[in-house]
Amino acid sequence: MRIPPRVSIVEVGPRDGLQNEKSLITTADKIAFVDHLSAAGHQTIEVSAFVSPKWVPQMGDAAEVFAGIARRPGVRYTALVPNRAGLARAMAAGVTEIAIFAAASETFSQRNLNHSIDASLLAYAEVCADALAAGLKVRGYLSTCFGCPYEGAVAPSQVAGIARRLWDLGVFEVAISDTTGVAHPGQVPAVLEAVTAFVPLTQVALHFHDTRGTALANVLAALDHGVTTFDSSAGGLGGCPFAPGAAGNLATEDLVYMLDGLGVETGVDLGRLVAASRLIEAQLDHTLPSRYLQSIA
Ligand code: HMG
Ligand code: MG
Repeated sequence: MRIPPRVSIVEVGPRDGLQNEKSLITTADKIAFVDHLSAAGHQTIEVSAFVSPKWVPQMGDAAEVFAGIARRPGVRYTALVPNRAGLARAMAAGVTEIAIFAAASETFSQRNLNHSIDASLLAYAEVCADALAAGLKVRGYLSTCFGCPYEGAVAPSQVAGIARRLWDLGVFEVAISDTTGVAHPGQVPAVLEAVTAFVPLTQVALHFHDTRGTALANVLAALDHGVTTFDSSAGGLGGCPFAPGAAGNLATEDLVYMLDGLGVETGVDLGRLVAASRLIEAQLDHTLPSRYLQSIA
């Protein structure tokens, strides 16, 4: 099988990971978490989300977190932005890279954004135009690409059609996302083939949740297909408050352990990453699901 020499990891723990935690984590703990993640060698960290705090209270301190982190040169610190109000807040906080997030299924789009797919893409066209004009980089997430918690199966052609519309907005990368961790390796080639008809393979990232324990197997299938960018979250934190059954993201420790074993460079130091996960785990009312983390408990 095809194994690349290097893989880029997008660490989404502080955003996708913490957004689903019921009890509020302090801003100071979030800042320390992000700083430990950059110390572990992460080159891209999704720090927070400038979404409505009425919808996701845990992300309400996005600006304060950005103000408190120690920005390491060369590290990209990113944030979710759902609309123009979010973009204004992100720019005021000095954010230089944002991510917009659309869905491949109508019901999830409504539940997550209170908008249809078409309405969300119309709003994102304005967000992208403004962000790009201001010199920001914009990533585009696409949720429910392997199945929807409300609608079930989602056709690869539907995924590809929305991925194309995101790409046409000027995003530099499309993150094909398995929101509730239903994907299995048999689906990965078909979805990638459909999407790469419109988006260059080098600009496709994969974002797996690990609800059913298939995330690492999906990564292997995607590596074989030539994908070299993967999202994961420290300790396997995560889930989406608007996707019933969404468990944690693929754990970064589990991903790095596998890639280290395969001789794939990631730049992430497993020992330092564990320190970051332990730091945030101490603030939670549960243990983290990463299998690697549990193996060294
Ligand atoms: P809405 O209720 O239709 O929006 O929500 P609205 O425009 O009517 O605004 C409602 C209130 O929120 C107003 O305040 C606005 O000012 C305020 P009020 O007048 O009632 O006092 N508001 C904001 N405040 C701060 N920042 C903002 C903002 N926007 C509005 N940006 C909206 C529409 C898009 C805002 C809402 O649906 C929302 O914020 N959704 C985000 C949901 C979310 O964060 N989901 C989780 C992240 S996505 C994910 O996890 C999937 C991913 O990981 C990939 C995968 O795994 O699939 C990326
Ligand atoms: Mg997610």
